[in-house]
Amino acid sequence: MQYSEMSKEQLMQELEKNEARLEEMKERHLSLDLSRGKPDQAQLNLSMAVLDALKADSVTDSGNGLDCRNYGALDGIPEAKSLFAEILQTTPEHVFVGGNSSLTLMFEVMSHAMIDGLLGEAPQIFDAERKFLCPVPGYDRHFGMTEHFGYKLITVPMKNDGPDMDVVEELVRKDPSIKGIWCVPKYANPTGVVYSDEVVRRFARLKPAARDFRIYWDNAYCVHVLDPENDQPILDILSECEKAGNPDMVYEFTSTSKISFAGGGVAALASSPANLIDIKSFMTVATIGYDKLNMLRHVRYFKNLSGIKNHMAKHAALIRPKFEAVETILDKELGGLGIAEWTTPAGGYFISFNTKAPVASNVTTLCKECGVVFTPAGATFPYGKDPANSNIRIAPTYAVIDDIKTATELFAIAVKVETLKNLLGK
Ligand SMILES: Cc1ncc(COP(=O)(O)O)c(C=O)c1O
Repeated sequence: MQYSEMSKEQLMQELEKNEARLEEMKERHLSLDLSRGKPDQAQLNLSMAVLDALKADSVTDSGNGLDCRNYGALDGIPEAKSLFAEILQTTPEHVFVGGNSSLTLMFEVMSHAMIDGLLGEAPQIFDAERKFLCPVPGYDRHFGMTEHFGYKLITVPMKNDGPDMDVVEELVRKDPSIKGIWCVPKYANPTGVVYSDEVVRRFARLKPAARDFRIYWDNAYCVHVLDPENDQPILDILSECEKAGNPDMVYEFTSTSKISFAGGGVAALASSPANLIDIKSFMTVATIGYDKLNMLRHVRYFKNLSGIKNHMAKHAALIRPKFEAVETILDKELGGLGIAEWTTPAGGYFISFNTKAPVASNVTTLCKECGVVFTPAGATFPYGKDPANSNIRIAPTYAVIDDIKTATELFAIAVKVETLKNLLGK
């Protein structure tokens, strides 16, 4: 029965029942964490052979004869460019292979936009009104980065097939101070949304007022499918932008952080030839070159996209049951009550949960008091403020399955308790 159909007495009884369950769980002195999207140990173990792909007596030359133990090749070794080109559905000529973190690449490119300006445009720091579009809910570190650089963050609603493009088109067309937008186009963090062909094409055809407007296309989860039989391909944004006459409008990013080692993988960006020249011109001031030995061992181990896909199927086998466990418990505890909605993603690292009543922050606080940490409510919105106080990001990958079940049960009870209190005016 939906809570909205219950009498006050029934609601009171329901509250008593769930508060009693909560007390029981408190007595278990839990200490669990479902807050961050990290791979678990078994996932990391899948990649240990990457470390053996290079040994002391290995040939350390890259395909073009460059000794990977030495300086050189600022934009990466050819075989790493080819591997990332396959992953991102583009050509090696579009690829720059960097260090261990795609987030760092985003930060470096954004620093360049701020300090030097992009392709001859004025440094963005001179625009006191500079703004950035943030589809919500989204990734807290994206929002934090643009906040750090002093952009005013403008929220854009997410739909089932990507950001609301009517809103995006209108905003960028009118305002030359809008300098960019964050996008996670496949299995978005945290909604799991996959951008439709129409959305990708509308992005490619944008007519921004700012010549230095850029789409930061963070394809972090492009190969992170939960059911390998049910991959959901998206269009290649770079070629769509080229076709639309906007070749320089996008920077695409990815990394192997959640393929091999989180923080110990290889990151890459893909963009137009002009943007790559621009990027290399400032990167060469920052570094003589990235870790080519790490690139080499990754390519020697994974070889090509098919190697990556086989490997990601093993990841999927490990984490799919965790997502299913969360979904099963949420269905069992909350299904039919009409008090919450949640996503059932086909890939990525997160489940996005929305309470109907404005109680998300109370829910995460209550869970914390009971020993279970979730990403704080609000984190999925710019400035950490969700105006509806509704969205909570659930990250099921890192904990062991029994802990995930316990944590999700507690979470569901907390949602019921806080919603009931809200309905009863307590
Ligand atoms: C959307 C998104 N982009 C980037 C990252 C971080 O990537 P990297 O480890 O390559 O910096 C994450 C990590 O959670 C993420 O969710």
